Amino acid sequence: MSEHFRVQGGARLVGEVSVVGAKNSVLKLMAAALLAEGTTTLTNCPEILDVPLMADVLRGLGCAVDIDHDKVTIVSPPKPNHRADFASMSKLRASVCVLGPLVARCRKAVVALPGGDAIGSRPLDMHQNGLRQLGATTGIEHGCVVAEAENLHGAQIWLDFPSVGATENILMAAVLADGTTVIDNAAREPEIIDICVMLQQMGAKIEGAGTSTLTVHGVQSLQPTEHRVIGDRIVGATWALAAAMTRGDITVLGVDPGHLNLVLEKLRSAGAEVTTVTEPQQGFRVVMDGRPKAVDFVTLPYPGFATDNQPFAVALAAVAEGTSMITENVFEARFRFVEEMMRMGADARTDGHHCVVRGIEKLSGAPVWASDIRAGAGLVLAGLCAEGVTEVWDVFHIDRGYPQFIENLQRLGADVQRVSAPPER
Ligand code: UD1
Repeated sequence: MSEHFRVQGGARLVGEVSVVGAKNSVLKLMAAALLAEGTTTLTNCPEILDVPLMADVLRGLGCAVDIDHDKVTIVSPPKPNHRADFASMSKLRASVCVLGPLVARCRKAVVALPGGDAIGSRPLDMHQNGLRQLGATTGIEHGCVVAEAENLHGAQIWLDFPSVGATENILMAAVLADGTTVIDNAAREPEIIDICVMLQQMGAKIEGAGTSTLTVHGVQSLQPTEHRVIGDRIVGATWALAAAMTRGDITVLGVDPGHLNLVLEKLRSAGAEVTTVTEPQQGFRVVMDGRPKAVDFVTLPYPGFATDNQPFAVALAAVAEGTSMITENVFEARFRFVEEMMRMGADARTDGHHCVVRGIEKLSGAPVWASDIRAGAGLVLAGLCAEGVTEVWDVFHIDRGYPQFIENLQRLGADVQRVSAPPER
């Protein structure tokens, strides 16, 4: 049954919302469980569609996986299967993170090329180059990445770009390689620190987590562990922008405000009052009284403004006072959703990796289609500031990344519903 979200615009969002573990962390931590035989337990996991999809990928590799609300338990076998098939891999991009652990553990991996969001080309050249430098042979055969290594050895690796996925795959292979690996121009995202912390608990020797240079001293084997997933900074940013756009007052708990420094600073420039919170959990509060002022945004790897937050920035700009320029530097096709926002009356124009948006007082509700997780959430935010009803279709994208999205919006006072019905033609 096709589902859509029905958003009646106009409400001011007020209240408290709790954010659980990060999608972009938990999926990699689940893959990391492959590195150690035995039972790994992850807590604070988000109840989103991508977690059971990743569980299916791991089951296909011989793991037993149990999901009990926010707790995911993975039993990794003595000898994982090294083939990850297309049926499970095609459903989510993060599945490619089994590549590094499989090469490390089985010395061989045949991993179907993953699916994921339609946000532009997502090559794996840096993942493969890194594995080659660690001593593996790798290539693409029949739609799969094939990697094989008799022995993995330490290496000096310079990444062309601080790719999150490449850093994670190389890191997870290097922890079980002979000798020392240095990854330069490594990604510095909080999720990279999270995986380093978990790997260290498992016995890995890693220095420099959160900096551009990761040094990994390979060990013979790792032990399973229990780990709490860090709060989702992208979901946190979604609520922060929702507060600013609806002239609301939202306290966001369960996420480290230090992970959103730039987002919160931009909201201050837009006119919001932002304070940090420490009790009962760490978080922050965003209060906006008037119409937001236009601000420019430029996406960059962390600590730059996250590309995942870019659709929310465009939504904010659409209702802000003045003209904003949003520059996308990470994914080439991440402005696809702007056309959907234009259906809602947004005065926006894209040219290459720039988008100029002239803010208008009110958008106008329309049927729109979500093309990926964050685009979908951005369209819901736009709908909250629109006159009349916005129907956001293809909400399975949003369900892949946002636990309890509709319920949380309703608790904050939004007039939104999940509707199961075929689209009117
Ligand atoms: C992860 C996140 C995604 C986020 C992105 C950037 C997950 C599941 N997804 O994606 O939400 O938007 O980080 O913060 O965690 N690239 C290459 N060759 C490679 C690898 C990457 O050219 O081998 C390019 C990509 O095409 C893209 C850029 O590098 O233009 C950044 O990609 P990367 O950081 O790898 O993103 P993901 O790990 O795929």
